[in-house]
Amino acid sequence: MKAVIPAAGLGTRFLPSTKGTPKELLPVLTKPVIQYVVEEALEPTGVDGVVIVNSREKPQIESYFKVDSGLEDQLRDRGKQAEADAVHAAGSLPVSFVYQDEPRGLGHAVLCAADVTRDESFFVLLGDYFVPDRQMCVNMKRVSDAHGGASVIAVAPVPADQVSRYGIIAGSCVEGLSGEVPADEESVGAVWKVSGLVEKPAVQDAPSHLFIVGRYLLSARIMDLLATQGAGAGGEIQLTDAMQRLLAEEDMYALVVDPEEGCDTGTPAAWAATNARMALTDASVREAFVEALGPKAVGLLSE
Ligand code: G1P
Repeated sequence: MKAVIPAAGLGTRFLPSTKGTPKELLPVLTKPVIQYVVEEALEPTGVDGVVIVNSREKPQIESYFKVDSGLEDQLRDRGKQAEADAVHAAGSLPVSFVYQDEPRGLGHAVLCAADVTRDESFFVLLGDYFVPDRQMCVNMKRVSDAHGGASVIAVAPVPADQVSRYGIIAGSCVEGLSGEVPADEESVGAVWKVSGLVEKPAVQDAPSHLFIVGRYLLSARIMDLLATQGAGAGGEIQLTDAMQRLLAEEDMYALVVDPEEGCDTGTPAAWAATNARMALTDASVREAFVEALGPKAVGLLSE
């Protein structure tokens, strides 16, 4: 089973940095953002490879995931074993590449991976967000396994004034991750049976305020539907629209998650905050980070 990570975007929010470095390779501490997503994708049992949907303008992403024995040897010669191991680990991840030659939307990006996912279910992980403990997809897989391999998406409540930015689901709560239906149907761990999906609805048309967080476990059938999917919101081929068609044929579930479990890297501000959060939770750099910030900035952070 594969996991697909769309990564063909231009990264305009990070210009001029992304003139030189694809946004996927911007670091969070010492690792590029996309490596966190790849490692998260490989966590659920059964995932044996990651397919990155790249654009041809970003060959640096492919170089990054290649073995670099020259660099490894140089580091080992200098006694830098830990660094050499980290370089080796990055180059040894089971990552392959396909290309999206035109920016035609998320649905089109996913379809570009059809030859690699073949007739198996697969995960999709949006790359502007990663979950440090890597458990979100693992839990989605549990829900899917409990329902005969059905498609499962991660969702979370969003304020009404923001529903028009996201994919929104309709449905009803049927159980909890650990058994019975929770008292609060929108609490973390609630499992919904999805009855409809709509991409970027106007607030008055939104069937709920549960938005699609950016983690999907999809049945192979979605690829056939994407192949015939017309343009939707924003003139793009929307994954959400093909999922709405999938609902006519197959069951689909949604797992309510806490989006704060993950770190957003989609804007410069979110990326900077993610670096701070990771530095504060990483025992090896926490002290040095707080010292480097100085008392004034620490005061600002804790306000
Ligand atoms: C995409 C999906 C949307 C989802 C969102 C999560 O939208 O189409 O359904 O809610 O990601 O971030 P985009 O952010 O690409 O507009």
